[in-house]
Amino acid sequence: MNKLSLSIIFFLLFVIIFGAYKFIYQGNVVTADDGRTAIVLTGTEKDLILEEMRGFLSAAQQIVQAVSNGEIDKIIIAAKKVGKAAQAEVPVSLVGKLPMAFKKLGFDTHVKFDELAMDAQDMEDKEQSLKLLGQLMQNCVACHAAYRLDLEKTN
Ligand code: HEC
Repeated sequence: MNKLSLSIIFFLLFVIIFGAYKFIYQGNVVTADDGRTAIVLTGTEKDLILEEMRGFLSAAQQIVQAVSNGEIDKIIIAAKKVGKAAQAEVPVSLVGKLPMAFKKLGFDTHVKFDELAMDAQDMEDKEQSLKLLGQLMQNCVACHAAYRLDLEKTN
């Protein structure tokens, strides 16, 4: 093998590894004026994520209300609605644009709603449900502090 083909191989390897890093780990991001990491998306992609968010908010509201009314069954229904099973089908193109840490935090939030539902089912302890909600909502706070969604520029 001559030097030229070797350097071509190394160059291509670099391109592949860099591409994989960009796609799997970093996502399509820029630093926004407010210091947060802006994930740059199309309008449709942004809408998909925001819809999931409104589902989260609605679940949190329903759980708080169900706790105050002492309705364990409603706590379970509301939490399951935003559990793993309900997680929106995310197109591969969008998966590549989301940073790894963002995906982990999002996934963990769905998992924690499932855990809340299971706990309510097993323990029937509404105070415990409220406590778990408070804990899982630290994910909401952490993610919103770190990320925002910006639109791709369409020239
Ligand atoms: C993995 C990150 C992440 C997690 C976890 C997360 N959010 Fe969000 N959420 C975002 C981002 C990013 C936005 C867009 C904010 C922006 O562009 O300024 C957003 C927006 C929203 C919006 C606005 C929706 C709209 O239609 O404009 C609501 C409501 C919301 N989130 C609620 C929640 C609640 C409640 C939780 C927790 C149960 C939560 N989010 C957890 C990242 C997250």
